[in-house]
Amino acid sequence: MNLDRLMGSPKSVRVIDVVKESDKTRTLKFRYPSDDTRFHSGQFMMIWVPGVDEIPMSVSYWNPPDAGVTVAPIGEATNALISLDVGQLIGVRGPFGTPFNTESKKALVVGGGIGMAPLRPLTYELLRLDVQVTLLIAARTKGELVYLNEFDSSTKTNLQLQTSTDDGSMGYKGLATEASKEILNGETPDTLYTCGPELMMFGLYELAKEHRIAFQASLERFMKCGCGICGTCALDPTGALVCVEGPVFRSDQLSKITEFGKYHRDSMGLKKQY
Ligand SMILES: Cc1cc2nc3c(=O)[nH]c(=O)nc-3n(C[C@H](O)[C@H](O)[C@H](O)COP(=O)(O)OP(=O)(O)OC[C@H]3O[C@@H](n4cnc5c(N)ncnc54)[C@H](O)[C@@H]3O)c2cc1C
Ligand code: FES
Repeated sequence: MNLDRLMGSPKSVRVIDVVKESDKTRTLKFRYPSDDTRFHSGQFMMIWVPGVDEIPMSVSYWNPPDAGVTVAPIGEATNALISLDVGQLIGVRGPFGTPFNTESKKALVVGGGIGMAPLRPLTYELLRLDVQVTLLIAARTKGELVYLNEFDSSTKTNLQLQTSTDDGSMGYKGLATEASKEILNGETPDTLYTCGPELMMFGLYELAKEHRIAFQASLERFMKCGCGICGTCALDPTGALVCVEGPVFRSDQLSKITEFGKYHRDSMGLKKQY
């Protein structure tokens, strides 16, 4: 494989639209010339924020030739990215990583906060494939629920939309894991797809085991290269690289990853407990 392709064919692109998704998150759309690039739900891009840093971002919008990422401001790079206006330049390379497997007939999709980003194209793909989808959009409070306006159960017969908030300001009052437990008491999906805070995903992994349903989760780890060169995103003890083997992992893979739900590593490689 040539180096340019391995590195995800880096390109400079201009922001063409900025969409408010919730009180704090924004989707930045850009034109992505990608004749030879095929995106699959769950993959991510490395986004270069000029003068600041390069960070991994799930592709939340894919409508060739346009693509987009949804950003939650948590530190220097994400704050700088979300402050960009239409017309400003960013660097993009990718898409990278192993996507979700969409072989399902009845799916429960659970997104916690900004974890909804990779689940948005997944949900559209499942709906297009005529999969019966229950989508649970979860957040701490109503103002942090993302993509609420575009997923409407009344317009799509194979979609059932549910929401949950920790403070009860909208939908089920409580954690996404508790809301999922309620859903699974009345429904029997064959697959549970999730992305969000790792403790939430770990709880859902246990729940999926209990209900004997397939489970796929998109993990986040600190990344430098995004394409399998640096080893920064290796998981204990298997050494699986989140940027190559992941970010989407199945339950049989997660059962071997002892750090799942326990800890992750910071930019210095030091363990940070959840
Ligand atoms: C595959 C993948 C997809 C992602 N998709 C999205 C997305 O769609 N939207 C989005 O807003 N964010 C996404 N992220 C997270 C995003 O990359 C980080 O929030 C970003 O790198 C933080 O950079 P910063 O300079 O703003 O914050 P920093 O100043 O670097 O960090 C702020 C805090 O966040 C922690 N942190 C930073 N990066 C990570 C990480 N990867 N995992 C866990 N904790 C971290 C730091 O330890 C620190 O406590 C994704 C991450 C991965 C690995
Ligand atoms: S980020 Fe470099 S190997 Fe995964």
